[in-house]
Amino acid sequence: MAEKNQSIEKSPASNDTLTVTDNRTGRSYEVPIERDTIRALDLRKIKVQPDDFGMMTYDPAYANTASCRSAITYIDGDKGILRHRGYPIEQLAERSSFLEVAFLLIHGHLPRKDELEFWTNRIMRHTYIHENLAQMIATFRYDAHPMGTLVSSIAAMSTLHSESRYIEDPAVRQKQIWRILGKLPTLAAFAYRLRIGRPHNYPDSSRGYTDNFLYMLDYMNQRDYEVSPVAARALDVLFLLHADHEQNCSTTTMRVVGSSRGDPYVALAAAAAALYGPLHGGANEAVLRMLNKIGSESEIPGYIERVKRGEMRLMGFGHRIYRSYDPRAAIIKQAAYDLFEVTGSNPLIDIALELERIALEDDFFVSRQLYPNVDFYSGLIMQALRFPTDMFPVLFAIPRSAGWLAHWLEMIEDPEQKIARPRQVYIGADKRDYVPVEARSQMPR
Ligand code: CMC
Repeated sequence: MAEKNQSIEKSPASNDTLTVTDNRTGRSYEVPIERDTIRALDLRKIKVQPDDFGMMTYDPAYANTASCRSAITYIDGDKGILRHRGYPIEQLAERSSFLEVAFLLIHGHLPRKDELEFWTNRIMRHTYIHENLAQMIATFRYDAHPMGTLVSSIAAMSTLHSESRYIEDPAVRQKQIWRILGKLPTLAAFAYRLRIGRPHNYPDSSRGYTDNFLYMLDYMNQRDYEVSPVAARALDVLFLLHADHEQNCSTTTMRVVGSSRGDPYVALAAAAAALYGPLHGGANEAVLRMLNKIGSESEIPGYIERVKRGEMRLMGFGHRIYRSYDPRAAIIKQAAYDLFEVTGSNPLIDIALELERIALEDDFFVSRQLYPNVDFYSGLIMQALRFPTDMFPVLFAIPRSAGWLAHWLEMIEDPEQKIARPRQVYIGADKRDYVPVEARSQMPR
């Protein structure tokens, strides 16, 4: 085989290339590197025969594949860094609000005062839901998991806002964003009130975002009713911390479903469905159930042994990206203590702290770089705010809609993006001829 250097788009002035030698042919190829990344399509030139398909990469679960270029959220998993549009999560949690961060994610900059007022006003003016939707929610069984109700209701919004499919129009896109951010808390609150057998409360757009949500959940015609500002702020910080986390399972789903250019409601319903599972947004619910099951500190060593034997996972531990402490977990842990000063302590915090202490010293967890993630402590705050356990993933889905929408917009506006369509490595049977059913008894199983 002839030795030949095949240059693919090499810039002569730059050393930023990767040289790959194909030992099947002895040929070398130079591939440009940009931001520590090569373009997978550049590998397609690597062939043995000219009519071969060309080289692909095999990456189950996309563990090392960038499917987009994004300017929204930066994570350094080794150092435990999380920034939205450049702003550290610690500063945002301390000084910002969920709606401000939602604006930041979607528009790329912190809003001016008038922009924030307009944004807040638009979102709060879209908190009412169509009566058909309220009636639809009422048809779910009293014990329906609220995430199932939420996913279905978001999808149903597609039928009520028919102009939403004209996504090429920026004004149409913008309106759906206000609607989604405004209506999600209402859908969740209506589902919750149905669950507890109470009539729903209509939104009060003069209230703040989380203030209104807590009002819709709790108000019972009390004359002296007030939403606790401490509870509203705790929920706001919780929402802010969940607003985006770059290309996780649900955000990737939003991009993939959105890439076929359907309306944002169906894409968002799919993203919420992806969030539902216990390895993703359902982990907060699973952590609480786990802490309740453990029951007391004396049971922890036995539980840890079972995790190490592979019988179950320690929920709220581990992360695909973070290989050190999840910065959101550190903030949430502190916020939990702040809230407990008002609500009284949660006995499960002692079990959680002891579980964390033992796990962080145990070689099983240390060697696998398993640290508490955002879900480890968030459930304790949600419980202190008196949310039922199966509402927890809903409290993740509402704020994450801001991130889903930011990524959806970025995807639509990115000229490099097309309909998502990964490749596969086919490992099935070679061509074989059809066998009539009468003759199949002689076929090997
Ligand atoms: N408990 C016990 N062992 C674990 C855990 C855990 N929570 N997580 C990972 N491992 C082990 C796993 O068994 C494997 O061990 P080995 O190498 O011996 O086979 C090793 O660590 C690597 O695990 P992995 O499954 O390859 O890691 P992953 O990056 O695919 O999974 C994860 C990430 C978050 C799904 C996983 O850590 C997990 O299941 N955690 C528990 C669920 C959870 O808390 N999810 C919330 C994630 S943060 C919020 C969000 O973004 O949704």
